[in-house]
Amino acid sequence: MRQPVGKLLLFGATGDLSQRMLLPSLYGLHADGLLPEGLTITGTARSDKDDAGFREFARAALDEFLSADRKNDSAVAGFLARLYYQPLDASNTVGFAALKDKVGDISGGLAIFLSTAPWLFGPTIKGLEAAGLTGANVRIGLEKPLGFDLQSSREVNDIVAEAFPEDRTFRIDHYLGKETVQNILALRFGNSLFEPVWNAQGIDHVQITVSETVGLEGRAEYYDGVGALRDMVQNHMLQLVALIAMEPPARFDGTAIRDEKVKVLRSLRPIRDAEVTSLTVTGQYGDGASKGEIVKGYDAELGKQSDTETFVAIKAHVDNWRWHGVPFYLRTGKRLAERRSEIVIQFKPVPHSIFAERGAQLQSNTLVIRLQPEEYVRLLVMAKQPGLDRDGVRLREVPLNLSLEHEFAGTRRRIAYERLLLDLVEGDPTLFVRRDEVEAQWEWIDAIRRGWDTAGVKPKPYASGSWGPTASVALTERDGVTWHE
Ligand code: BG6
Repeated sequence: MRQPVGKLLLFGATGDLSQRMLLPSLYGLHADGLLPEGLTITGTARSDKDDAGFREFARAALDEFLSADRKNDSAVAGFLARLYYQPLDASNTVGFAALKDKVGDISGGLAIFLSTAPWLFGPTIKGLEAAGLTGANVRIGLEKPLGFDLQSSREVNDIVAEAFPEDRTFRIDHYLGKETVQNILALRFGNSLFEPVWNAQGIDHVQITVSETVGLEGRAEYYDGVGALRDMVQNHMLQLVALIAMEPPARFDGTAIRDEKVKVLRSLRPIRDAEVTSLTVTGQYGDGASKGEIVKGYDAELGKQSDTETFVAIKAHVDNWRWHGVPFYLRTGKRLAERRSEIVIQFKPVPHSIFAERGAQLQSNTLVIRLQPEEYVRLLVMAKQPGLDRDGVRLREVPLNLSLEHEFAGTRRRIAYERLLLDLVEGDPTLFVRRDEVEAQWEWIDAIRRGWDTAGVKPKPYASGSWGPTASVALTERDGVTWHE
């Protein structure tokens, strides 16, 4: 199956994702000679453009979204020469014949990237099938949203499965394309140090924070009614939980890794209706300041009243031997104080302190895995403060710091989509999400939503630029835990 394709077909080619991420990523791969020679990229969308118009569009996207050091005139020209375009109304099967003609001979393999509105999945798959663009050498990459609950996600997956078997279906979670996310595997399974304490005996709790400073960013049509739980927790945050909590896979491949991740996702303790108010907190940003600027609240930005949550915090459990009794505190939100994605592993205290009688306080070790914007792994350890200790021993928490940016300075950081697009083109499924994972994720999320509906939970207001509703502080403080800030 790992076989590079000769053609790429991009649906939604004139959309936001394409401009910001896909075209710059494909250019990056092209510029470094990583795309198969002769690979053509056909874009399609509703907009009425021809090849020249799409190349202009792509050039403008590169101008805007590529960093200056990556721009190179001859590489840009070479990249644009790979691009073609065919306008298409995907809701109508008729246009797919012309698309097929445009793509041309696919005997060398075709990879399709589909980022489309949910209601277009059915017609698009039918159109591809009718046009003969679904054979054994065609694989498909799917961008979210793939449904908005278990039921609708099954429907989407069933539609896709009619034409593409699971081993040719590549579901994207762009967090898995991030270098630091993959680094979790290196840290856990490339070192002997952590694994013996990576369990309920060694770990007190885990915190995962994905905070953003942005608000709606013009995505109201998608975001409103979806909310933070579906937008961020269902996919990115649960994938982080899975990577942190999974058993060691026997080998580094798509089957072994995803087998272990899905076991974790299926072990998530369901949150029952009666528990939603004690185990979850939702919020919605109000007026406030973000990065030094006055910003409007969610409703004002949206132009109407809404109950969509822009913040969620959850106390979760993975019910298995390894994690018995270890809470996983998750929180994510928009318009928060900082942009930060971080995993904090709080280890247990030493069983007995020999320093107590000498007046020294001990703090338990903490491992901080910062995914963005900085990339580092920091282990907080106790060290003796220099001195003659006449008034008692003084110990202080100090960081053992591994800055990945510093350690790997000079190695270019790739956009997550560069990695994922290349894996799609080459047919490596390891960093894509399997259907059973997605369904386990939705099952857990749906129960929370049902609980919110039953309990009539409405998001609590929080000021833009804060760390969310105060109730999210209470969620952890009740257990004697403080969010790592
Ligand atoms: C997307 C969400 O999946 O992830 C967005 O739809 C969110 O709402 C984005 O802003 C965050 O991604 P990143 O890579 O900036 O952390």
